[in-house]
Amino acid sequence: MLFDWVGKNREWRNTTALWVEDMSERRLAGWHYVAKTSEIEEDVPKALRIGDLFIALYKIADRYYATDDICTHEFAMLSEGYVDGDVIECPLHQARFHIPSGKVVGPPADKDLRTFAVQVVGEDVFVEIPEE
Ligand code: FES
Repeated sequence: MLFDWVGKNREWRNTTALWVEDMSERRLAGWHYVAKTSEIEEDVPKALRIGDLFIALYKIADRYYATDDICTHEFAMLSEGYVDGDVIECPLHQARFHIPSGKVVGPPADKDLRTFAVQVVGEDVFVEIPEE
C-alpha cells in the first residue's frame, strides 16, 4: 500500500517537473512571465506591458484572463475600468467587454478585444503572446 502511494507520488512529481520544463519551452515560444499570483487581486485588473503591447490581466472567480488593455472605441486603458462579474467596463464611455472572450457586450465599442492565453505554474503567471 505504501509502495503504491510512493509510486503515485513520484509519478505526480515527475509530471509536474515535466510540465515546468514544458513551460520553459513555451516561454521560448511566446510565453512571458508577468506576475506572482499574490500580486493579482480578484476583480482588480493589472496593467501589463509586454513589448509594444498593453495588456490587462484579470483574476475572476480564481481564474486568470488577459485581454488588450486599450479599448477598441477610443484611447482608454481598460485596466482603469470597472469589473462587473466577467465584464470590464471602459472608464471613458462605458463600453463593456466580456473578459474571457473579449467580445463587445455593450456600446459604444463595436470591435472585440484580443484575448491572450494565461498559464499559472506554481505561483508564477505567464501570458502567451503569439509570435507573428
Ligand atoms: S474609449 Fe472605451 S468606450 Fe470610448
